[in-house]
Amino acid sequence: MDLIAALESLAPELEKGLARASTLDALEELRVEFLGRKGRLARIMGELPALAPAERPAAGQAANRVKTRCNELFAVRKAAIEAGREAGLLSRFDPSMPGRAFWRGSLHPTTLVMNEVCGIFQGLGFDIASGPEVEIDHYNFEALNMPPEHPARDMQDTLYITESVLMRTHTSPVQVRTMLATRPPLAVVAPGKVYRRDSDLTHTPMFHQIEGLMVDEGISMAHLRGTLTAFVRAVFGADTRVRFRPSFFPFTEPSAEVDISCCMCGGKGHVGSEPCRVCKGTGWVEILGCGMVDPAVFEAVDYPPEVSGFAFGLGVERIAMLKYGIGDLRMFFENDVRFLAQFGQGA
Ligand code: PHE
Repeated sequence: MDLIAALESLAPELEKGLARASTLDALEELRVEFLGRKGRLARIMGELPALAPAERPAAGQAANRVKTRCNELFAVRKAAIEAGREAGLLSRFDPSMPGRAFWRGSLHPTTLVMNEVCGIFQGLGFDIASGPEVEIDHYNFEALNMPPEHPARDMQDTLYITESVLMRTHTSPVQVRTMLATRPPLAVVAPGKVYRRDSDLTHTPMFHQIEGLMVDEGISMAHLRGTLTAFVRAVFGADTRVRFRPSFFPFTEPSAEVDISCCMCGGKGHVGSEPCRVCKGTGWVEILGCGMVDPAVFEAVDYPPEVSGFAFGLGVERIAMLKYGIGDLRMFFENDVRFLAQFGQGA
C-alpha cells in the first residue's frame, strides 16, 4: 500500500540526509523538510482522508512510528554534532594552560632615587618642601643673588615663558619660597623637575633635582659635610669616600662641588687594565653642588644676620645612573618597559 510505503521510506532517507548534515543549522533544515508543518510527513498524512476507513488506523500507526523514529535520528545526530563542536573547541582551547600573569608595574628609577634620597634626609630631620615648575625670574635668579645683568645667568640656558616668567632652571627657588614662608630654624629637601635649554647625549631639557637647605644659628660647613657624608654613605655604601672641591655659585659662599669615590671602580680609576669609563680614570665622580647660604640671599628673604645655613642641589638622574650603573641618560625618558621593569620590586 502506497501511503504506508511512502511513510516507511522517510526514516531511511532522513538517515542519509543526516549523515551529510554537519551543523545544527543543517539539522534544522532537515527537520523542517521532514517533520515541519508542511514537511514530507505532513504532506503524506494529508492524503489519509483519501484512504478507505478500514485502512486508516494502520496508516496512522505507521505515521506515529515513523515520527518517533525520525525524532530519535535527529536526537542522535544532534548529540554527535554538539560533541564534535566541543571537541573542536577543546583542540584550540586548553583549560589547563596557566593564565597569563598580570603585568606588574614598577616605579621609575628617578622616582625610586627621589624617594630614597628624600627618605634619608627625612631620617635626618628634614621636611619635604616644593615649589612651582613655572617660576618667576625673581625667585629663580634675583633673590638668589643673580641680578638681571649678572654673568652667572649665562651658566644656565633658560626656557622663558615671558620676560619675567620662566621654567625654573634649578630647585633653588624653593629655598627662597621656603624662607619667605618660614622663620628659622628650618631644614628641608625639595625634589622636583627643572628645565634647561639643553639637549644632547648627556643633557635633557627636563631633569630632576633635589634641593637641600638648613638654616639655624651656628650652622657651619662642618654640618654640611657631615650631612652630605651621611647621605652619600646611605645611598652608595659605607665605604664611599667624599671629597669637597672649591667651586662657585652666586647664592652660596663658600661653594663646593662634592665628589664621591667612583662606585664603578671603587675609586681605583681602572677596571682590570682598562681605565674606568664612569670616572674616566680619575677615581672620583661629581654628584652635587653645595655651599653656605650667601648673606645676600638671607637679605632677600629678610632673615636676621645671626643665622647661617647650608644648601645643596643634586641631580637625581645622575645619582640613579651611578647607583644602578645606567650608561645612557636617554633611557630615563624613553620609558621602554624592558628598561623600567628592571626596577621592579626588589630591584
Ligand atoms: N642650583 C645649583 C645648580 O643647579 C646647585 C646648588 C644648589 C648649588 C644649592 C649650591 C647650593 O647647579
